[in-house]
Amino acid sequence: MNTLLLDALACENQSRPPVWLMRQAGRYMPSYRKIRENRSFVEMCHHPEIAAEVTLLPIKEFGMDAAILFSDILMIPEALGLGLRFEEGKGPIIERPVRSREDVFALQKPDVEESLGFVAEAIRLLRGELSVPLIGFCGAPFTVASYMIEGGTSRDFKLTKQWMYRDPESFHALLKHLAQVTIDYIDMQAAAGAQAIQIFDSWAHVLPYQEFKEFSLYYMNMILEGVRDPKPPVILYCRGASVFVHELADICPRAISLDWNIHLPRLRDVIPSSIALQGNFDPDLLYAPLGAIEREVKRLLREMDGDPGYIVNLGHGIKPDMSPEAVKVFVDTVKTYVSPQAMV
Ligand code: CP3
Repeated sequence: MNTLLLDALACENQSRPPVWLMRQAGRYMPSYRKIRENRSFVEMCHHPEIAAEVTLLPIKEFGMDAAILFSDILMIPEALGLGLRFEEGKGPIIERPVRSREDVFALQKPDVEESLGFVAEAIRLLRGELSVPLIGFCGAPFTVASYMIEGGTSRDFKLTKQWMYRDPESFHALLKHLAQVTIDYIDMQAAAGAQAIQIFDSWAHVLPYQEFKEFSLYYMNMILEGVRDPKPPVILYCRGASVFVHELADICPRAISLDWNIHLPRLRDVIPSSIALQGNFDPDLLYAPLGAIEREVKRLLREMDGDPGYIVNLGHGIKPDMSPEAVKVFVDTVKTYVSPQAMV
């Protein structure tokens, strides 16, 4: 059993750092595209056997030190009855967006076992097959709310921010509702066997400081506190939110996953050594020549050398047109790394 990720999340890793990549099971892999050929993405998520098979693809091909469940953060809006589909070139579409305070107060609290049981089933199937830890995940309330309001991906989050400033009371009600459903969802994933959970707040960086604390951080903290014991280790990821890293540390997640705008080794000096750090390669590095990828990975490995709470990852997901060879070099460079300390 490879426990590098769990050791690093406990900030007790004495070996080389673990490596995995956000969106590691995706369209850059020909084997993924083949499975996807005859089905929609949502259909793949709904079928535990397919979700499990796809989760395993990158582990079998590249040997990452952790698997992340194949699913999507938008399974919760779907479970809330809003309707979800993905359109080629457009991304996710929420069919019945939330547009008024009446819509918010009409939302039901779904039984997660009933509406999202296929996620638990995929986790159970995977735990029987994996020899690396399995990461479950969910979206943070602010990011999920933005999709529910905008009806899909947005350029400027205009409807979301208008609502937040015009009617903070019902906006809070929506976030609280999502936090409560998310707590049940994480509890279900942990009970099914997820050994860590990553929470994605991909859009929190559109918020100013005060609003970040009030509308994003507050609900992530509610989730961390509300999750049932024994709590799984939680990794917080906020793209573009390295400016908020001290506030993220204040709510004591097990790990913070960072984008590429921050110098990780220097950050380590100011973030408590009890919190693991994950990241933070620019995903676009995977477009570079293979030798440059190897050089950059080695540089960060040297800079973080000996840190018992460091996890190698990208600062955001791999893109569909990236090459599997680049991923292989990225992973292999970490796996064959020999610490300069081990050579003396
Ligand atoms: O990392 C993994 O391999 C696990 C699976 C995973 C997916 N989505 C699969 C996926 C995870 C962790 C997510 C999280 C997710 N989903 C986030 C947060 C992380 C981030 O990217 O900021 C967000 C915002 C979403 C919503 C979402 N799902 C969007 C905006 C899109 C369209 C963009 C795109 O890449 O096409 C998706 C689709 C999606 N989610 C795909 C995959 C593999 C592509 C689906 C396909 O095959 O067409």
